[in-house]
Amino acid sequence: MDRYVAVKMVGLTKYYGSFLAVDHIDLEIFDREIFGFLGPNGAGKTTTLLMLTTVLRPSEGNAYVYGYDIRGHPDKVRRFIGMAFQDPKLYWIHTPYEILIWHAKVCGYRGGKAKEVVADVLKELDMYDARNKRAFELSGGMRKRVEIAKIFIQKPRLAIFDEPTTQIDVSGKHKIWDMIKALRDEGSTIILATNELYEADILSDRVAIIYRGRIAALGTPRELKDTIPGGDVLEIEFNPPLPHEVVGDIESIRQVSKVMLSDSRIEIYLNEVERILPRIVTLLLERGVGIRSVHMREPSLDDVFMHYTGARLSEEG
Ligand SMILES: Nc1ncnc2c1ncn2[C@@H]1O[C@H](COP(=O)(O)OP(=O)(O)OP(=O)(O)O)[C@@H](O)[C@H]1O
Ligand SMILES: [Mg+2]
Repeated sequence: MDRYVAVKMVGLTKYYGSFLAVDHIDLEIFDREIFGFLGPNGAGKTTTLLMLTTVLRPSEGNAYVYGYDIRGHPDKVRRFIGMAFQDPKLYWIHTPYEILIWHAKVCGYRGGKAKEVVADVLKELDMYDARNKRAFELSGGMRKRVEIAKIFIQKPRLAIFDEPTTQIDVSGKHKIWDMIKALRDEGSTIILATNELYEADILSDRVAIIYRGRIAALGTPRELKDTIPGGDVLEIEFNPPLPHEVVGDIESIRQVSKVMLSDSRIEIYLNEVERILPRIVTLLLERGVGIRSVHMREPSLDDVFMHYTGARLSEEG
């Protein structure tokens, strides 16, 4: 199926001095999808998004937002975009209510309509009671909500959220995830930068794994998990030490595609886990390994991350 392309990046690159932060990214983001940018601290997510929004100038390459290129037509590009920044800068003496009314007016709402839309979004984000506090009196999570509220008022064609739920409590996260999905359903294209596996997994229609400025993998969460050879993961915790022949023994089993060893845990990527499990357990017992627990699970996006980058996202940063 051919899909309408909302954003196209072509060799998009950013150097800070001699440091290559974003390394020739080629990527298409489809209209009306939630596109997750998943990567650890320093991967290049914010830098990429700031180039898209024309805040930063690319060192090389270009990007097109609904057909307009960010170098040639930055003013046109900006009209499509609303971005909730990772570290919102609010004027400290202003209140959420003032900030958002001002924003609603910039977005074209007049008088009573502006008040209405702002009140609705504040209530939806559980911020209504805090609407008249001054920004310096707000908690970090509340400041973040004010930043996010702007996007739900604006309903831009391309909505960019840079780590929208860091600092936000669990019920707030769920609320915001629902609101992001609703925004997509109403017709916006969403780009979501995150380093949270769960957030990327449940929210994204497609995910790009970004690592050290490059796209390491791209697909729907399901597709990405399915690309891992050995669709099953077997986790065995043991009492160290582990005789070193054990890893080789396990690797020689035909259905096993990869073995990862840490201090007291071995992770085995394999097929037909139900059939192979007894053989692996027997093998460990014969080698005198004390097994503490055995766990079977589906691959997660962390396994995908591991497969493509050789690092664990859950242990990065
Ligand atoms: N203004 C800057 N000057 C120099 N280096 C920078 C600048 N901004 C970012 N970097 C570096 O570029 C790399 C990418 O940073 P970026 O902020 O894009 O990462 P990120 O994926 O958004 O990370 P995080 O999850 O921590 O927000 C990092 O190594 C960072 O230190
Ligand atoms: Mg960032």
